[in-house]
Amino acid sequence: MACLNYWDGSTRVNVTKKISDIIARDKKVIMTTTRSEIPFVPAKGDGDFIYDVSGNKFIDFSSFIAVYNLGVNSSKAVHNAITSQAGRLMHSAFTDFYAEPPVRFAENLLTMFPKGFGRVFYSNSGTEANEAALKFSKLFTKRQYVLSFYNSFHGRTYGSLSMTSSRTVQREHFGPFNSAVHAPYAYCYRCPFGQEYPSCGMACVDYIKKYPLSKDVSPKEVAAIFVEPIQGEGGYVVPPKEFIAGLREIASDNGMALVSDEVQAGYLRAGKFLCMDNFGVEADIYTMAKAVGAGLPIGVTVTRSSLGSIRAGAHANTFGGNLVSIAAAEAQLTYVKNNLRHLEAESRQKGRHAMKRLEEMKERYELIGDVRGIALMIGMELVKSKKTKEPAASERDRVIRQCFENGLILLPAGDSSIRIIPPITVSQQSLDRGLSILEEAISSVNKSVG
Ligand SMILES: Cc1ncc(COP(=O)(O)O)c(C=O)c1O
Repeated sequence: MACLNYWDGSTRVNVTKKISDIIARDKKVIMTTTRSEIPFVPAKGDGDFIYDVSGNKFIDFSSFIAVYNLGVNSSKAVHNAITSQAGRLMHSAFTDFYAEPPVRFAENLLTMFPKGFGRVFYSNSGTEANEAALKFSKLFTKRQYVLSFYNSFHGRTYGSLSMTSSRTVQREHFGPFNSAVHAPYAYCYRCPFGQEYPSCGMACVDYIKKYPLSKDVSPKEVAAIFVEPIQGEGGYVVPPKEFIAGLREIASDNGMALVSDEVQAGYLRAGKFLCMDNFGVEADIYTMAKAVGAGLPIGVTVTRSSLGSIRAGAHANTFGGNLVSIAAAEAQLTYVKNNLRHLEAESRQKGRHAMKRLEEMKERYELIGDVRGIALMIGMELVKSKKTKEPAASERDRVIRQCFENGLILLPAGDSSIRIIPPITVSQQSLDRGLSILEEAISSVNKSVG
C-alpha cells in the first residue's frame, strides 16, 4: 500500500477514482440515512493511524465515534481473543442457555463499578443499553415517566428516541413518543436562562423542580432521570458538578433511579472508567457501549443490586452476550484493569496538553467561541462572532473538510462543534500534528468571519 507523504504539508489526500466509485455504489444501494460528504473510505487501522482504500494516511481524532478509545486495531490480545473464540463457538444463545465467558466478563466488569452494583444486562448497542435501562427503571419503580434533557442523545430506537432531544431531524415524523419529559441541560456557554455560572445558583436544577416535575408530571410517577454526564452528540457540553449533584438529589428525594448514559463519555474517554466519577456522584444504572467491545458490537446495562431483578422473559435479545464480542471486550478490559492508573493519567495528561493548545487557539481566532472538556473528551464550538455567539455551522463543516484533506479525521457534534477525541493511546507526536492541522484549517476558515 503506497502511503502518501503529506506530513510536511506538501501532498494532500488524494481522492482517487477507487474512492469515488465506492461512494457512488454506496449512494445507489445503502439507505440514505446518515453518511457525511467527507470521502473517507477507511481500509486499515494501526494505532494512531488509519489508511483508506487508496493508501492515504490519516491521524484519527474521532476514535471512529468514540469506539477505539485504545487505538484502532492496535491490540494483539484483542485480535487473538477474537480469532480464538471464533474458532470455538461464536454464539451461545445466551438468552436461553448458559455460557462462561459472558459471566466471567460481567464479574470483571462489575469490579469497575461502585460497591453494590451487581447485575449486568447485555445487548448490542448504545440505544439497546438505554432501552434496557428505561424498561428496567419502569419495572423497578412501577412508574411510567422518565426525565431527560434537551440536547441529549440516547439513541434512535423508540424508547431511547423518546428521551433523545438533540436535533429535530432525528425525531421528525417518528412521533408520538412515549413517556419522556425534557428539561434544559446545564449548557453554560449558552445558558437557557441567560445566566452565568456560578452566579446562576444552578437555576437549571431549580427549573426541573418547578416546571417539569411540578407541571408536566408528578415526581411520584417518574421512574428515572436519564443523563449524559457530558453531552456528546449535543455538542460536547460539560455541566458543572452541582448540576449532576442536583440531579442525584432530586432522584434520591423522589425514589427515582439516576441513569448515567456513558455510551460515549465512559470507558476512560473522560479520564476515568466511569465518567460519573468526575462529578463525585454515583448513578443507579449505567449504560455503556461504543468502546466496550474494542470495535465489536456490545452494549451493557449495569444496575445497582438493591434495585431488584427482572422477571424472566420481561426483556431479552438474541445476540446479547455474543461470545466473540465478549472475547474482545474481555481481552480489552483485562488490559485496562492492568493499566488503569496509567491509562487514566494518560487521558488526563494528553487532555490537558490538548486543552492548553486549544485555549491558545481560542485567543487567536474569532471563530472559536468555546473549548471545553474533561481529559480527552474535548469539544470546540465555532461561532461567527465571539460577541453574538451565532453558531458557525458551515464554517465548522469547512474546517472538518479541510482537516480531512490534510490527513486529520474529525467529527462534528451539536450545531457547530467539533469533537476532539483521539484514542487515549495517541502518541504525543500525532496529537501535536493533529492539533497543528486543525489550527491551519481554523486559521484559514477564520478569515471569512469576524
Ligand atoms: C450518549 C449516547 N447514548 C446512546 C447512543 C446510541 O448508541 P448506538 O448508536 O450504539 O445505538 C450514543 C451514540 O452516539 C450516544 O452518544
